[in-house]
Formats: sequence, C-alpha cells, structure tokens
Amino acid sequence: MKNLLIKNGTVVTASDTQNADVYIEGEKVVAIGNDLGSRFSKKADQIIDANGCYLFPGGIDAHTHMQLPFMGTFASDTFETGTLAGLHGGTTTIIDFAFQSHGDTLNSALNAWHEMAKDKTCSDYAFHVAVTDFTETAQKEIQGLVEKQGVSSFKTFMAYKGALMLDDRQIIQLMKEVKKFGGIVTTHAENGDLVDTLIAENRAKGNLGPEFHPLSRPPIVESEATGRIIDIAHQGGHPLYIVHLTCEDALNRVRAATLRNQKVYVETCVQYLLLDDSAYLEENFGGSKYVMSPPLRKKSDQEALWKGIDQNLIEVVATDHCPFCMDQKKMGIKDFSKIPNGAPGIEHRMELMFSEGVLKKRINLNKFVDLTSTAASKIFGLYPRKGSIAVGGDADIVIFDPKVKHTISAATHHMNCDYSAYEGWQVTGKCRTTILRGQVVIDQGKALIGKGYGKYIPRTKPGVANV
Ligand code: URP
Ligand code: ZN
Ligand code: ZN
Repeated sequence: MKNLLIKNGTVVTASDTQNADVYIEGEKVVAIGNDLGSRFSKKADQIIDANGCYLFPGGIDAHTHMQLPFMGTFASDTFETGTLAGLHGGTTTIIDFAFQSHGDTLNSALNAWHEMAKDKTCSDYAFHVAVTDFTETAQKEIQGLVEKQGVSSFKTFMAYKGALMLDDRQIIQLMKEVKKFGGIVTTHAENGDLVDTLIAENRAKGNLGPEFHPLSRPPIVESEATGRIIDIAHQGGHPLYIVHLTCEDALNRVRAATLRNQKVYVETCVQYLLLDDSAYLEENFGGSKYVMSPPLRKKSDQEALWKGIDQNLIEVVATDHCPFCMDQKKMGIKDFSKIPNGAPGIEHRMELMFSEGVLKKRINLNKFVDLTSTAASKIFGLYPRKGSIAVGGDADIVIFDPKVKHTISAATHHMNCDYSAYEGWQVTGKCRTTILRGQVVIDQGKALIGKGYGKYIPRTKPGVANV
C-alpha cells in the first residue's frame, strides 16, 4: 500500500471550495485539511505540490459506448483506448452500456460486456443494461441485476425500430419491474416511427448527404418522445432519467413536469452545449463527423441547455462517447441513414466544461464538479465511494491547472479516432495529474498504468450509499 500527500491545492467539491492538503492511504482519502504535512509527510511515499491547481473529484462519464457493435460496425475505441483517453482528460469512472441482443438474456449481455472490459479497462467502470427485447425472461432478470450484479439502471430506446426500440407497452412493463427493485429506467427519447418516416421521405427525394440527418430528426421528434416518456413515468410514479437531451422543446417538457411536482433526471452531453447544426454543412463529407442521434441543434438550443443547467433542470453532462473513424463514417457516403451514429468526446469533456463553462461564467466551480462527477454518482449509486473528495471515499482526484492553454486536435488526442469534433479549439485549463484509487495514473500527459488497472464498480440502487 502506498501513501500519497497532495499539498497546497484548492479542493473543490459540489458544495465547497477550500485551500487544503489531501492525504491518501492506499486507495482511500484519509484526511483533508490544512498543513497535513506536519502529520503525514513522514508516512507519505510520495508528496505532490498542487500549488495553483484545483483538486477536482475524478470525472464520471455516465454515458459511453466502448467497442459498441452498432449499425454494421464497432465503435472504434476499445475499453483500453477509450478509458485511457478518459484518464488523460480527468475521467476516472465510466458507465458503459451492455446491449441485449434480440433473443438473448440481459445477463448474457452483461457477461459479454464484462468479457470485453475485464483486464483491458484503464479507468474504473460500471454498466447500465440496454434492454432491447423485454421478454418474460428479461423481466425475471431485473431483480438479480439490481441486487446481485451492481446494475441499477436500464436504458430503453424509443427509436431504432426493429433493432433497439421498445414499444410503450414494453417500456411500461420494464419501468414497473425496475421500480419494484429500486432501480431507474433511462431513455433515449426520439419518436422512432417519425424518424423512419422522415428518413424515407428524404431518401425518396434524393436527399442523401449528412445535412439531411438533422432534418430527419427535428426537435419535435425528440420533444414528443420526451413528453410521452415523462407522462408514462408520471402515471406509474416511476423514476426516470433522460439521456442526451439536446433541445429547448424537449427541455420544456421537463420544465412542464416540474409544475405537477414530477422529478425527471436529465443528462445532456458536452457536444449539445458547444456545437451546432451548421457542422453538418462541413465540406467533403465532413458533416458525417457529427452524425449522432439526437443530432446537434441550433445555437438557441445551446443557450436553453445552459439555462436549464442553471435552473437545475439538467443534472449531468456526459459525452455519449461513441467514436467511428472516417472510413467507418463512409459506410454512409451514399446515404446519410447508413452513417454510424456517434462521435468521440470522452477525453475533453472536463476541459471543455471548465474552459467554456467555468471560465465563461456559465457555471461556477462547484456546479462544474456536480455536472461532471457528483450528480451522476448519486443518481447511479456510486456515491460516496465516487463523485467527491471525501474522507473514506476512493482517492479519485484530478489535479487541474486552470492556466494552461492548449489546442484540441486529432493529432494529439488519445482517443482511437482519426478526427476530433473540436479540432482546433483553444481551451484554457488542463488535467495535469489524474489519480485513481490513490495511484497516479496520468502525469503531465504520460500514462503510468497499463490496461487492466480499472476495476468494475458494482453500483447500489439510486440513493443507497455505495461504501
Ligand atoms: O448517436 C448516438 N447517440 N450513438 C450511440 C447510441 C445512442 O443512441 O446512445
Ligand atoms: Zn441514445
Ligand atoms: Zn449513447
């Protein structure tokens, strides 16, 4: 067991900001306070001076897809490459999705994802299960997944008909079962029939370029499904988490729910806060880089999302990290509906949220921590083990230098993807050192651990302490 003393940093949690030292024994934080050197410097194996830096809780990306088999190919980051990139950017835990295949059980999906991640993953990880075929067998598996396997959240798709989509009846049954055992259903809210109709109409007109992707999935596709799933959850008194919400119209459905005292948890992703649909016009099939679902929206939607964060309507900023290289994107060169949906993002979520959020005064430091770490840990049953810097918690800490300026580029990023959605963006603030369970895993851009360092973290039910 190694002991680590971090001196002179500014410790930031979702609630407080204090100048303090942090002392770590093995994997856990043991003390936070002033002048811990006098008590612990003799016991420390390593002392790090964090003068001028913030100490943030390790980031939690609640929405990633490493090596996901999807739309005829596989997401290009493996559990190894994607989580290492995440560590470079201060994300110490991911929650990935194990996808059920039609005719298969939920447990076999979970086992398959465990197999992909085991001995490969660099950061810590947990799983949601994406339910795509809600059979009687699947229904019987929910209790065991929540109580024995550490999976307390289940994703449903209201789009991708014939592949991933459940109908409303199946979603209602799933919600009932999940609620019985204290879990939560998360939803990809797009009206699948409307999407399929609009895609068919565009194709029939010969509208085949990437710029027709957002036109086939306009805001009403998302806001209708968002309102519907919120109503379904309200009727049954079910907890609900909406993944990757993108636009003002959908956010207004969430806002309306508050008027009847319904709580809905909402996630957006960094790309929806920072990029807009003009990206689809990038020349030479460049628009395909941004083909994801739901699509990028208007600048006015970005502003609405920032306001939604301010109003506590949005709790979590994730990435939906699902990268495909340009060769893979070219599967849809003649038809936008065949472009694999998804984009890279895990590496720069925290730095972009700091630079564009904190430094541009859209959010304060504590909100930054809540959005990038604490809220997800509470909603998804990782807290207080993860999601804060607290005595007794895992020593997952990012030493963040707020002054360093750097430029994002595919030439220097660590994600296994040959483009960046933020190519050439200048950001201020960099993860100098990432610590995961007391071990320095990244220092000044250098990885100090290899694949397999990451551990599976079984989750508790939302609201139940993970200790
Ligand atoms: O375009 C996306 N979002 N790809 C990943 C799958 C999903 O819907 O989350
Ligand atoms: Zn989705
Ligand atoms: Zn996703």
